[in-house]
Amino acid sequence: MNILVTGGLGYIGSHTVVELVRSGHSVVIVDNLINSKIEVLAKIADITGTDLPFYQIDATDEVELETVFSNHQLHGVINFAGFKAVGESVEKPLAYYQNNLLSTIVVSKLCIKYGISKIVFSSSATVYGDQPSPLKEDMPLKKTTNPYGETKVMSERILQDVAAANNNLAVILLRYFNPIGAHQSGLIGEDPNDIPNNLMPYVTKVASGELKQLSVFGDDYDTPDGTGVRDYIHVVDLAKGHVKALEQASDGVAIYNLGTGCGTSVLELVNTFIRINAVDVPYKIIGRRAGDVATCFADVCKAERELGWKAELTIEDMVRDAWQFVVNN
Ligand code: WQD
Repeated sequence: MNILVTGGLGYIGSHTVVELVRSGHSVVIVDNLINSKIEVLAKIADITGTDLPFYQIDATDEVELETVFSNHQLHGVINFAGFKAVGESVEKPLAYYQNNLLSTIVVSKLCIKYGISKIVFSSSATVYGDQPSPLKEDMPLKKTTNPYGETKVMSERILQDVAAANNNLAVILLRYFNPIGAHQSGLIGEDPNDIPNNLMPYVTKVASGELKQLSVFGDDYDTPDGTGVRDYIHVVDLAKGHVKALEQASDGVAIYNLGTGCGTSVLELVNTFIRINAVDVPYKIIGRRAGDVATCFADVCKAERELGWKAELTIEDMVRDAWQFVVNN
């Protein structure tokens, strides 16, 4: 199939492009380069041996984006385009609502106009709010703690209404847990431009000496070692989940958790990183971060049952590949 990937030079987008090409699909990439680097395009070509059509276009710009739909015979769209920093979304809610909702609306309008039958949307476990894990797809959505999470809830609702009004359109909502790691080649990975919000990119910047020390946000949670527990999933496993979802998509709306089903604490992850990579990561325990939940991990039965997909890579693979990318770059 010929697939449009918006946000295709970003962290998860670029890994998904690689897996789509590896699975025999052709890909068209759109990215506005706000949160990504043009160098990633050449890295994707190095990994896949394929030069892919690329357009530097903002997915909220309907006129510009329509040129891509008219230039290419597309069979499906994976929409990664969106801002994703939780803290930033609290400071700039309108930027998040405008960018994230408008890209969902514009992509949906063009898919309908051009008769494209599959839309895969990059959603997030954050839509579950603070409900007890394991989190299941049929759980009600709770008020999330930040505008970023709200844009994911609202985008899911928009897409469900669009699917209800267009019976030849398959909408697949993929709820990511905590993607970390990098492609085994070390050529692409998580490369945030500024001080990272997320744990793993912060850990790698401390390990490389770019940042002095990791702050562990609280060790008084009701978890085995008191630190936050999350469902970390290797970004390559996550990318493969997108390919499976696209290939298996059928009419209507399908929602899948993309996680491992296993919880790992902050200290377990940090200590595994130190052990596997034989590098030091100085850290100090400080107070809790506002909005954090103690434990969050997925029920992954549905994706396995319906998509024939299950995460295969381990925490050791994730910390090794995350570090390998930093060492290579
Ligand atoms: C993981 C754990 C922190 C940083 C967020 C978004 C979610 C998704 C993934 C986009 C927690 C602890 C972190 C640090 C720390 N984003 N931590 N020190 O909060 O589970 O999820 O990112 O889709 O939508 O909500 O990920 O990596 O920020 O935190 O102790 O410097 O690491 O308290 O327990 P989170 P995270």
